[in-house]
Amino acid sequence: MSFERACSLDEFREGEAIAAKVGDQELALARDGDEIFAVEDICSHAAVALSEGEVEGCTLECWLHGSRFDLRTGKPTGLPATEPVATFPVDVRGTDVYVDVTTTLNGVVPQ
Ligand code: FES
Repeated sequence: MSFERACSLDEFREGEAIAAKVGDQELALARDGDEIFAVEDICSHAAVALSEGEVEGCTLECWLHGSRFDLRTGKPTGLPATEPVATFPVDVRGTDVYVDVTTTLNGVVPQ
């Protein structure tokens, strides 16, 4: 495991995701209560940033065609996307959010 700092807890806003970069990996981070999620910042349907989408609970909705992704699994819960996005391990240390981009939680290889 190789966690690197991605962002701070106080950067999260209700309903919004955060774009961050750890190493070469672009990330979309989202918060649902005490839980923080990190997924690759690219929709599996087309090459647009998921971080510009809307967060509702543990779901992130792509702004372009409206596919919703379960942030816990990376799986789409609505069309047109059919493929999951990569999800990454997150560790909160104090007020800082760390992400390990050397592995994925769901086994999906990032695009
Ligand atoms: S680009 Fe995300 S649903 Fe189409």
